[in-house]
Amino acid sequence: MSLSPAFLDELRMRTSLSTLIGRTVKVQKAGREYKACCPFHNEKTPSFTINDEKGFYHCFGCGAHGDAIRWMTDQRGLPFIEAVKELAAAAGMDVPAPDPRMAKRAEKAKGLHDVMAAAQALFEEQLGGIEGAEAREYLKRRGIGEATQRAFGFGFSADSKGKLKGALGEFGEAMLIEAGLLIDPDGERESYDRFRGRLMLPIRDIRGRVIAFGGRILGQGEPKYLNSPDTPLFDKGRTLYNIDRASPASRQSGRVIVVEGYMDVIALAQAGFGEAVAPLGTALTEHQIERLWKMVDVPVLCFDGDAAGQKAAIRAAARALPLLRPGMSLAFATLPAGQDPDDLIRAEGPAAMEQVLDAAEPLVERLWKHEQNAAPLDTPEQRAALKQRLNAITGAIAHPDVRAHYVQIFRQRYDALFFARPEQGGAPRHQRGGGARQGWQRDRRGNWKPPLPPVGSEARAIGMSGMEQRLLRAVLASLLRHPEQIALHREMLSALHIGDSALAGLLRAMVAASFTQETVETEGLLTILGQGEVYNMAKGMLRADTFTFTPNRMKTDSSRVSRDLEEAIRVMAQGPELETALAEATRRAREDLNEETFAEQQRIHRLKMDHDQRLAELAQSEDIM
Ligand code: UTP
Ligand code: MN
Repeated sequence: MSLSPAFLDELRMRTSLSTLIGRTVKVQKAGREYKACCPFHNEKTPSFTINDEKGFYHCFGCGAHGDAIRWMTDQRGLPFIEAVKELAAAAGMDVPAPDPRMAKRAEKAKGLHDVMAAAQALFEEQLGGIEGAEAREYLKRRGIGEATQRAFGFGFSADSKGKLKGALGEFGEAMLIEAGLLIDPDGERESYDRFRGRLMLPIRDIRGRVIAFGGRILGQGEPKYLNSPDTPLFDKGRTLYNIDRASPASRQSGRVIVVEGYMDVIALAQAGFGEAVAPLGTALTEHQIERLWKMVDVPVLCFDGDAAGQKAAIRAAARALPLLRPGMSLAFATLPAGQDPDDLIRAEGPAAMEQVLDAAEPLVERLWKHEQNAAPLDTPEQRAALKQRLNAITGAIAHPDVRAHYVQIFRQRYDALFFARPEQGGAPRHQRGGGARQGWQRDRRGNWKPPLPPVGSEARAIGMSGMEQRLLRAVLASLLRHPEQIALHREMLSALHIGDSALAGLLRAMVAASFTQETVETEGLLTILGQGEVYNMAKGMLRADTFTFTPNRMKTDSSRVSRDLEEAIRVMAQGPELETALAEATRRAREDLNEETFAEQQRIHRLKMDHDQRLAELAQSEDIM
């Protein structure tokens, strides 16, 4: 059925959204809008807003968003057309008769869906029957339990050329061919069953309808998997295996895992990772990447550690470059060479898989490493070639802000790799361009003073939450143990706005010392700090039992120390910034609510959630304990 946009607009206009929603949840008037506790997530203070004028509801907490029709489909669970019918009845409107052309297409799709559902039922029945014995044995051997078999709808296609053709004859040969279930050889020969003697895995669309099949051979043989051809229902570049189950699971876990095979998805689900999907035997397409970004901002791509797997990873990375936008990226988890997730889980259990996922690298890291290792870097020409390869990557990024950051990060790393001054006698390494003292000034007595905070910055001070306090102390303790790091992170450290005046004083003194101190050693730094309060605090932090980022065993690996510190400092600095940005975006969205302001508010909300989680992880990481 096709409903014209004009009809739907009229329907929305005649529906009072607050009244409709008020039937299910308690709504309260708040200015021009209505407020309620969000029915889509658990909350105590209302962040669910209804705007009758615009006919939209939105939740500033979980992002639920829509109009009256969406409310009926999402909250009440009605199919679209039922939602429209019910709203139209309430509004006293007649639902228009269907457009004949659209109706025909819908009719046909409905027919194909029915065919696929019937085929699925047939395959399942056959798996349970006499002819399914070998397939059942196979599943058992692979350790696929009954609950998993049911969840993924395993079936079996009888080893016969005409079993399905006969059983589903009522749909007509043409329809069975169009659904990809029969092979239609050109010429005189008769059509026959495509899937014969195979373990059948249904491929379902986001709504859980079967749109295709993958058939695995039992044991050895070629091809291992036989898949449905593309049909009006099935376009393999636009579908992901298990999308229907992974989508809700990803909302729970905040994660999506992309693996290579059907069996990997299934093994992961059985091990408790319900949020896994797989492309259908091809490299990831742009459509599939966009589809993944509808689930989470940073899907984790999980590849084999062998050469083929790594090539696939780089191919996916390259495909994503033109599509990158603020907040949206990919992460790359690398499996032990020669193992797929199914193998790994069987050999070492879910914890090993979790570890692999935890170690996933950001896209920027993966690209940098790949280019750095792609060719030798011994001669000037080879080094210049690396720069060229990096430029090719940044050139492929379409979004200007994302590109600018890639350019900046690659340049920094490139310069650090080839142009960094060798560390001589522990002399502090200055930042590029002599800007080491950015914003700092000497007072009349010759002491260095930090720059004033930027005008109009309303960001709150750092150290308000326990997590932040803990992390801040750990960072300071680490810097005391590795004073050479202070100069490296000076710019970011100077910009921190710290609430606790004693801690702020200590940091200020440390940063100031990093300008004058040539041999940066802990003892030397302590001498400079003098004997007052700041000195005592520093002494306290140097006690062996203080939590710190960088235990002594890591003292040798200064690049690791530097990286860890950089991240911790950045995360700390971002807290107040993100809060200010979120407050601002929420204010803007409330003032002028539209798709754009709401999407922006939600984007920052997600960034803030990710940030809070990262902060908690850092503040609780074992090295700190
Ligand atoms: P794999 O060979 O890694 O499959 O191919 P798998 O899922 O791990 O299967 P098992 O564990 O050997 O049973 C990865 C994916 O490539 C596609 C399928 O989508 C498969 O899941 N493929 C593979 C095919 O389409 N046809 C084939 O012949 C082989
Ligand atoms: Mn496998």
